[in-house]
Amino acid sequence: MQYIMSKEFKRYTITAALPYANGSKHIGHLAGAYLPADIYARYLRKNNKDVAFICGSDEHGAAITLQALEEKTTPKEIVDKYHNLLVRCFRELGISFDIYHRTTEPLHHETAQEFFLNLYNKGELVEEASLQFYDEVENIFLADRYIIGTCPKCANDKAYGDQCEKCGSTLSPDELINPVSKLSGKTPIKKETTLWYLPLDKHESWLKQWILEEHKEWKTNVYGQCKSWLDAGLNKRAVTRDLNWGISVPLPNAEGKVLYVWFDAPIGYISATKQWAKDQGKNWEDYWKKEDTRLIHFIGKDNIVFHCIIFPAMLKAHGEYILPDNVPSNEFMNLEGDKMSTSRHWSVEMHDYISQFPYKSDQLRYCLIANMPETKDSEFTWKDFQTKNNSELVAILGNLVNRVMVLLHKYYEGKVPDVKGCDELEKIIKESKEKVSQSLEQFRYREAMNEVMNIARHGNKLLTDKEPWKLFKTDPEATKAVLFDCVQLIANFAIICEPFLPFTSKKLWEQLGVQEQKYTWEDIGRQDLISSNHIVAPAVILFEKIEDEIIDIQIKKLQDSKINNAVVVETIPPIKETISYEDFEKIDVRTGIIREAKKVEKAEKLLELKIDIGLETRTIVSGIALYFKPEEIIGQQVSVLCNLAPRKLRGIESNGMILMASDASGKLYFVNSQEPLDGGCVVK
Ligand code: 2FM
Ligand code: ZN
Repeated sequence: MQYIMSKEFKRYTITAALPYANGSKHIGHLAGAYLPADIYARYLRKNNKDVAFICGSDEHGAAITLQALEEKTTPKEIVDKYHNLLVRCFRELGISFDIYHRTTEPLHHETAQEFFLNLYNKGELVEEASLQFYDEVENIFLADRYIIGTCPKCANDKAYGDQCEKCGSTLSPDELINPVSKLSGKTPIKKETTLWYLPLDKHESWLKQWILEEHKEWKTNVYGQCKSWLDAGLNKRAVTRDLNWGISVPLPNAEGKVLYVWFDAPIGYISATKQWAKDQGKNWEDYWKKEDTRLIHFIGKDNIVFHCIIFPAMLKAHGEYILPDNVPSNEFMNLEGDKMSTSRHWSVEMHDYISQFPYKSDQLRYCLIANMPETKDSEFTWKDFQTKNNSELVAILGNLVNRVMVLLHKYYEGKVPDVKGCDELEKIIKESKEKVSQSLEQFRYREAMNEVMNIARHGNKLLTDKEPWKLFKTDPEATKAVLFDCVQLIANFAIICEPFLPFTSKKLWEQLGVQEQKYTWEDIGRQDLISSNHIVAPAVILFEKIEDEIIDIQIKKLQDSKINNAVVVETIPPIKETISYEDFEKIDVRTGIIREAKKVEKAEKLLELKIDIGLETRTIVSGIALYFKPEEIIGQQVSVLCNLAPRKLRGIESNGMILMASDASGKLYFVNSQEPLDGGCVVK
């Protein structure tokens, strides 16, 4: 069966919703947009397609100014801080954007202003004066989010002007009972102001034809939402706001007015593409203006109307752009039986996961893919995460790879046996590949992931059926054949799993002793990926079991955070109080070399180290075990605070401390010189 990759497209522009840089983002966001987009982009790249995978921080709008108000700082500080956090999180989780841009970049401001002027000059915008809420104390027009009042539907007295978070209703500030300004606490007045609007009613008829008739293949959740908007009839939407943070409206007499964040944000995809193309020596227009480019927007369900109706209307009004070919929005992911929400303190934040499960990004990716909210809301639970890790990644995949590598070393000194590949296996893997491709083409990730794991399941079945450890004594040739097949199967797995589990794929190639990952999707099925007599690396553990205690800690933490209402986003801490030079001189820091390292029993964070500091070898107990394996840090150069008073940790006397740098996600790094140094050099 031939899968249906749309061959007529020459290139692909893949966008993932620009997250607001107003805070950290949770794993529901990851499962909603970023992970499916990443898998799709990686899949296309493996198929040698020309791909631009675009994202960036959404840095304007009331989401940002409100957070600045909350943190008593400026919008600029807010976006700088959270943009950096987002960059790190996406990188650590393997989201392979070709560019992660920012909407505060001048290039974006120019692009958005040009776009606005283009529509304005063509008469595609309508100028209209209207009465808007105004805070007379602060002398400022109030964005919907700045107005609080009683919800007309559920009587919640803390409903926002755009939405009631208690009953979920979408509101307008006019509907609120007793509205007050979040800034001054006073009742706002209505004051006249001029705004520019995009007359969506003018676009209704072609939008109906384009979506309802020509895109029946869109996911039912997306199609359904579009249909109900279109059936209800479209109204004009304001594309400017009276706000002091954003992109200035490029017109005379528009002082104090900015583009509405939902006008500038999707244009952010275009400006990011411009920057990327410039960096790569490509032509950005190919990716936005050519009919043989396939544009796909990955988003969460709260963004559907903007990407399926409003942004396409903007693109059409402009006239030079292609429209999205698909908008495969996901639904929401709940957490332990409740809606996932950072502000309600019921979430797993990406940076928290990274710091608590370092180097376990694929474990999270796997669990999120297996539970992806593709057509309806889904659920993440810590117990399920543990089960997916222990019973699937460890027991199926890890176990297969480990057994094969151990047996190859035991019987053949790591050499791949000299036999011919198996046609039957080739057929099975090729069938899997077709299924995975088809599922991915239809944005069915759960199904695709399961089919990928079926390949590993098949490998385990081969081992269990043939029992090479018994066969070895009676039938050496048959043993060789089984292990040869298993090695080819693992190599095939390393290719096909890459879009889903990129870190694991890399580790598999290392395990197979293949330096460069040189194969493409086309190669999947081949039984000669690893040649006979090639030597594989000694077996290493691919996935570790996650114990109950670790999971219990997470569940407790979640419950505590709801009770304490505390979401702490670790970012760069302020500089401490000034000290004198004399105080500094008291500190004795020297270089050291780790000579021995072992885990401290029943203390998951601690390692007991023996560190050579030139004059002597010290015992130091250090809280780095979550980030470093003992066997991997022997010989590591470190900086040691040598004159710290000794203290006992878990019954072991620790004499000093090693200095570690910690990034915003809490991940630790050794502090050492670039050149190799002996132990004992004074750091001053
Ligand atoms: O909902 C959000 O988080 C928005 N910042 C998404 C913007 S997507 C696109 F338009 F940029
Ligand atoms: Zn309500």
